[in-house]
Amino acid sequence: MSEKLWGGRFSKSTDEMINEFQASIAFDKRMYHEDIAGSIAHATMLAKCGIISGEDRDAIIGGLKDILGQIEAGTFEFSVDLEDIHMNIEKRLTDAIGEAGGRLHTARSRNDQVALDTHMYVRRQVTEVEGLIIELQKALVETAEKYRETIMPGYTHLQRAQPILFAHHLLAYFAMLVRDFARFQGVYERADIMPLGAGALAGTTFPIDREFVAQQLNFESIYHNSLDAVSDRDYIMEFLSAASILMVHLSRLSEETILWCSREFSFVELDDAHCTGSSMMPQKKNPDVSELVRGKTGRVIGHLMAMLTAVKGLPLAYNKDLQEDKEGIFDAIDTVKFSLAVYARLIRGMKVREEVTRKAVAEDFSNATDLADYLVKKGMPFRQAHAVSGKAVHDCIEKGIWLEDMSLEDFRKLSSLFGDDIKEAIRPETCVRNRNSLGGTSYEQVRLQLASAKQLLEAEEKYCTEAAVRQL
Ligand code: ARG
Repeated sequence: MSEKLWGGRFSKSTDEMINEFQASIAFDKRMYHEDIAGSIAHATMLAKCGIISGEDRDAIIGGLKDILGQIEAGTFEFSVDLEDIHMNIEKRLTDAIGEAGGRLHTARSRNDQVALDTHMYVRRQVTEVEGLIIELQKALVETAEKYRETIMPGYTHLQRAQPILFAHHLLAYFAMLVRDFARFQGVYERADIMPLGAGALAGTTFPIDREFVAQQLNFESIYHNSLDAVSDRDYIMEFLSAASILMVHLSRLSEETILWCSREFSFVELDDAHCTGSSMMPQKKNPDVSELVRGKTGRVIGHLMAMLTAVKGLPLAYNKDLQEDKEGIFDAIDTVKFSLAVYARLIRGMKVREEVTRKAVAEDFSNATDLADYLVKKGMPFRQAHAVSGKAVHDCIEKGIWLEDMSLEDFRKLSSLFGDDIKEAIRPETCVRNRNSLGGTSYEQVRLQLASAKQLLEAEEKYCTEAAVRQL
């Protein structure tokens, strides 16, 4: 007979290689806290419903707390033979307290148990990810404030397009992170549904109280279909999808940071403490953090694809394929948290070379739209003004000068509408100041964006504190 907790119907012990292949203890042990909290809630409910005695409940809870202590002290020995975190803990409990331990799994299956653990784990991790999003958002706001007046070229097609404020550019990333935060709030909602009581798939013959378990573990609601409860991995796919989108945002920021650090741009200087050198080329200072985050984005997207693919052909209810949900999401959690944390540092340590970004605007034609707008304000139809400005750019290129170098006479040859206020109208500072439409790059609009960013941050922080308290 096999030694396994499920060994009764087996006449042989498991092949050693198969044993190792199917075990998940190597990675699911990180859910020990959730597994123990879930079992305590379950045992409490079983006793309340008269399914086990009060003594058994107390013995179970005492034993589980001892195990928690051992795991946290690092003295608990995890065994591959016992497959996963659930059976490692249950077996050790029964070894320690005897028969009462054998009653813990009444009215429960590992299928609803693992679902419970994973929901709780994801719920907690979502709150941590949200906290780290806030940290990065704060770094962006602080840096935007520091460079509130710094002008740089804004790009389309990676060609200089129109002058913008560096702060405006950073606040675009802030705005993306606001949506990321909201997406994770959605993930939280779907993780905050309690599956226990579904049993293996069909519910249980015991008079359990699922609402009571949900209350003890601070779940907002419970699953109303037992098959769905054990089969659902939507919240994991949603986490991975929110994480992928977030990483794509960080990857775009990385790409820009890498470009900005290059000698060709030279827009920013990263802190020496945040860069690495080359083993061969003594002059190198590489933006490795940004490159790694850009690279790790592929990994997180890969985990999303793996999860979608693993689930797409599965019949209801539990299939062992679902064990594959863990390594991907655990790695995505670690990757996203680490990436957010390092990025907050990187941004705080970033210095903008204001003279370089200002010069990049001056030595270009990114004020050509403003030249056209000037004529429109004097009464010329925009399409015609566009052509005049285009002609001015053309003439400048031929002469090897910039629009700002043109004389009033040169301008008046192109249109009699030009007056001596044209010089002022095409200064980069004026171009920026005039883009005062809602959400535009003007000093005034950026000031408003900063103010609303701070309000959003406060609301996000309040939400996180409440979510964290609710899980205790
Ligand atoms: N280790 C398993 C998992 O992660 C737990 C559930 C196993 N259930 C089962 N019937 N084999 O999915």
